[in-house]
Amino acid sequence: MICIHKNKAKTSILFVCLGNICRSPMAEFLFRDLLVRHGLNEHFYVASAATSREELGNPVHPGTRKKLAETGISCAGKRASQLSPADYQRYDWLLGMDSGNIRDMLRILGGDSEGKVRRLLDFSAHPRDIADPWFTGNFDVTYADIQEGCMALLNFLLAEETVR
Ligand code: 4NP
Repeated sequence: MICIHKNKAKTSILFVCLGNICRSPMAEFLFRDLLVRHGLNEHFYVASAATSREELGNPVHPGTRKKLAETGISCAGKRASQLSPADYQRYDWLLGMDSGNIRDMLRILGGDSEGKVRRLLDFSAHPRDIADPWFTGNFDVTYADIQEGCMALLNFLLAEETVR
């Protein structure tokens, strides 16, 4: 049986991409759904943010909304927000979608002295970037990659945080 440490505060995770309307909200809502389905939601705080100011205040892209809706996941109410330097202390993990995100995140955050900044797919067996559907138009491939990343992240966190 797996049980999370009782005395530990919630594990907080911030997913980050360029605009916070396509990939990082997809990861935020997909990962939260995964947590709910595993009965782990109360042990985590999950959010997402942008490195750019392009889409601040805007709702989730229709392509991401459609992919999430296909599996019954709603992202209603989510609006794009921007990564701030203070987020480095607020979160246990700050997870970018591609190498460009990581570069921009390190610039905004002023470095990564505690080793909290990774790409989402760095947790998978095949570390790589997640393509931006804003440019590719392909939300299916991005969804599959984010699903792989979220599963790998959950497995990593369970192995790291749990008592068996
Ligand atoms: P995302 O995609 O980083 O996956 O949210 C983008 C959305 C908007 C823009 C760029 C990327 N934009 O430049 O407005």
